[in-house]
Amino acid sequence: MSEYKIIDHEYDVVVLGAGGSGLRAAVGLSEAGLKTACISKVFPTRSHTSAAQGGISAALGNMGEDDWRWHMYDTVKGSDWLGDQDCIEYLCKEAPRAVLELEKYGVPFSRTKDGKIYQRPFGGMTKNYGNETVQRTCAAADRTGHAILHTLYGQALKHNTEFFIEYFALDLLMMNGACKGLIAWNLNDGTIHRFRSHITIIATGGYGKIYYSSTSAHTCTGDGNAMALRAGLPLQDMEFVQFHPTGIYGHGTLISEGVRGEGGFLVNSEGERFMKRYAPNAKDLASRDVVSRSIAIEINQGRGVGKEKDHVHLHLDHLDPKVIENRLPGISESSRLFANVDVTKEPIPVVPTVHYNMGGIPTNYKAEVITLNASEEVIPGLMAIGEAACVSVHGANRLGSNSLIDLVVFGRAAAKRAAEIIKPEMIHEEIPQSETDKCLDRFDRLRNSNGPNPTSELRTSMQKTMQSKCAVFRTEKTLKEGIEEIRNTFKRIDSISVKDKSLIFNTDLVETLEFDNLIRQAITTMDSAYNRKESRGAHAREDFPNRDDKKYMKHTLTWLNGSKTKIDYRPVHTSTLTNEVQYFPPQERVY
Ligand code: FUM
Repeated sequence: MSEYKIIDHEYDVVVLGAGGSGLRAAVGLSEAGLKTACISKVFPTRSHTSAAQGGISAALGNMGEDDWRWHMYDTVKGSDWLGDQDCIEYLCKEAPRAVLELEKYGVPFSRTKDGKIYQRPFGGMTKNYGNETVQRTCAAADRTGHAILHTLYGQALKHNTEFFIEYFALDLLMMNGACKGLIAWNLNDGTIHRFRSHITIIATGGYGKIYYSSTSAHTCTGDGNAMALRAGLPLQDMEFVQFHPTGIYGHGTLISEGVRGEGGFLVNSEGERFMKRYAPNAKDLASRDVVSRSIAIEINQGRGVGKEKDHVHLHLDHLDPKVIENRLPGISESSRLFANVDVTKEPIPVVPTVHYNMGGIPTNYKAEVITLNASEEVIPGLMAIGEAACVSVHGANRLGSNSLIDLVVFGRAAAKRAAEIIKPEMIHEEIPQSETDKCLDRFDRLRNSNGPNPTSELRTSMQKTMQSKCAVFRTEKTLKEGIEEIRNTFKRIDSISVKDKSLIFNTDLVETLEFDNLIRQAITTMDSAYNRKESRGAHAREDFPNRDDKKYMKHTLTWLNGSKTKIDYRPVHTSTLTNEVQYFPPQERVY
């Protein structure tokens, strides 16, 4: 591969991804004096965290009594009992400190009259173990992710994190089962960069773009997850894909759950507030899996609105326009722009839209990537955080506003753990050239592909398959068809067409590399979904409608070799770090 100019770098830590989790880790690492590189395929403030709207959860108790134990209970229950309770305990206990740190860094949170951080109600967030709604979600209007991302980027620059912006990561460098760094392609000048690092932190976000309609940015291609698969590591719980109940119909843009938190509600074609029937207690603020399924049922039973009767209406026209102006300015603009709706006068047309991946790279609560064996040993030198990771605090279903808090709590935890592990005398070992060659062979093969299949065609084919065969409701039949279809698409990558052969800002090649990453995650998602013969959280099997704790209260681990998967399971952690609290599933689900 002599054609490629390789530039070598050495860092204590390489963070891959500059969204909320990557930047929070980078800030902590740089503050601790570690030589830190942060690599991103997009400019950091364009990362997808900027799209997070409604807020970040933490039991601050600014708007009434709250307790991290209640937050933990809600999160365990919301996860449909698949979340690891040690990790959830860590998340909920650390959350208030992490949010106050953000405030100190300069995040411009909305304020209460007495100057405290404003908190709004969100789905599944309750007081006193499910008894009533609590206001736990800290908000910067409805642009909370944007505010956090910009603040953290400023902090990372202040602490001298070194940024490699518009670099596309290709593969991990592995040696004897440990991670030694990664290889990336500089989109600006076409050079290849080999980063050697004591620790590599994957913070590349989710892979929502395996679906046709999602709230995710085009950049959400799960590049780090695919790199882990190619390194021979498994992904965990890939069958759990969250549909957000309120994406704008026909466009997919997110309409924050904050709208329902501020009093908005859903209606069907009969003008009925149908959520009362499905979740008599929580109603429109039930957890997302419940609301998405309810909408899907309304549509399937002919009570959808519009010409095609294929969506429902979200009303906020009854709210005080001042509340809308101050707390929901972003969604007012998106609704005007993408649905031609004035939210003060008319309802927004909405439909469940893919929003979040609960699955990802398995880690412990210190952000270290773990293996399957009973003691859950760590993969030396490799960490994962944010949506790329499956830590697993969200289990089978994530509660709204638990994503932003996951980013900062585990970004911080990763930095803390790295600072414990890395010693000043540590040296960078030589990495066999064969690792670099393997990576560049794949890169070169895709770059020089001259087949008849345009990348865009294969991507659409994959997205349509995922959308129709692995949707809100799944069956043996749809999943079987999906497994076959997705493999047919995968095969066609051998004759993919890349027209642009250059190395400078070659978006044709970037999209092809992204597609290669996406399709691997599509296969693991489909196969994991097929193998889980129960309904839990976001995984709703019409043919197995009940949760089956005896057989399936366990995490799915999926390896990929070519198009072949190997599936195994590991137990859910039902014990906690301190044994202060522990929760057990009831026989019946009550929403
Ligand atoms: O609805 C929302 O504002 C999204 C929040 C989240 O996914 O956490």
